[in-house]
Amino acid sequence: MTTTVRYANNRPAVSLEETMTLPARYYTDPEVFQRELQAVHLDMWLHAGRTEQLPDAGSYFLVRFAGVNVIVLRDQNGDISAFHNTCRHRGTLLCKEHQGTIPGKIRCPYHAWTYDLEGNLVGAPHMEKVEGFRMQDHPLGKVAAATWDGHVFINLSAQPVPFAEHLAGLDRKFAPWGMADLKCVERRVYHAKANWKLIFQNYSECLHCPIAHPLLNKLSHYMSGDNEPPQPTYLGGRMDLREGVQTLSMNGLSNRPPFPGISAEDRQRVYYYAFLPNFLLNLHPDYMLTFQLWPVAVDQTEIVCEWHFHPDAIAKPDFDPSDAVDFWELTNQQDWELSDRAQEGISNHGYQPGPYSNREELLFGIDRWILERLARRQ
Ligand code: FES
Ligand SMILES: [Fe+2]
Repeated sequence: MTTTVRYANNRPAVSLEETMTLPARYYTDPEVFQRELQAVHLDMWLHAGRTEQLPDAGSYFLVRFAGVNVIVLRDQNGDISAFHNTCRHRGTLLCKEHQGTIPGKIRCPYHAWTYDLEGNLVGAPHMEKVEGFRMQDHPLGKVAAATWDGHVFINLSAQPVPFAEHLAGLDRKFAPWGMADLKCVERRVYHAKANWKLIFQNYSECLHCPIAHPLLNKLSHYMSGDNEPPQPTYLGGRMDLREGVQTLSMNGLSNRPPFPGISAEDRQRVYYYAFLPNFLLNLHPDYMLTFQLWPVAVDQTEIVCEWHFHPDAIAKPDFDPSDAVDFWELTNQQDWELSDRAQEGISNHGYQPGPYSNREELLFGIDRWILERLARRQ
């Protein structure tokens, strides 16, 4: 009896006419893709990486997707800054390696224009006889950057919304997990043959879990937990671990202690938060899993997945993350396979929009949100 009530479909009903999937062009048309980039990715805060990737002044990594190339670095003051990766002389790419250390100054390999780590132009050979040329007028193009508990975000808009508005209070909600302390021990990059929204949507429902993820469903019932109502910058929900299950791992057990700050209830839950438009955050009782989604083309998305653990757990001689890594490697492959198939089916001439379930309310939320964002830019 308890089980029936706990897993009942008690979310509000929806009406058929109002909750249909999007027309195919939102997943297949390169022009819609370009409009989405403008309206969404070039306007919103994007998860770029973790502060631990930038340990010292001069440490940097690149963010590259669909025509964007940004240098994210730690400057001389210890602050994290971001700049367009293009020289202000004739536009040459400044940093080529995906990550590394800049030795004090960024020097363009073409004609040696030189910038300091704050982006100021400090050397411009052969420009002394150019009337009106002033070094201070040609700094590197600045990109907004912000950090939250070890996460680095950038914003490519000329007028970014305040970062706090983007987080919408989730920084307070997730403070107990102490994400700033966590360290990445595994990173995998996947190339999905699917539109970025399909990855996002697949993440935001678990009706496919008993069919596609038998192991996940064995550890966490697909109808457990609940979602928050869709928000302008994120979609989120949680699921409960079944009795006796300690975490999402190959056998449901963990030899790592739960994060020190979390409540007894949260030791029995997994939180799934999708920050629009490129960051998925899974908080398990004993590890954090992150995904960045980088749109490459209308039907291609690069996905960077990382496993992060508490330093005390990592320091133990018997630390072995493979139970969690293998679990999500398996689940990820199952998900990308479904997203690729969804892309292929939607690209089929015979595709027509279909009705969502009331338990796919977050997906419908994403659709409405996209349409609103696109309409705003017209
Ligand atoms: S293009 Fe960079 S110095 Fe000329
Ligand atoms: Fe899935």
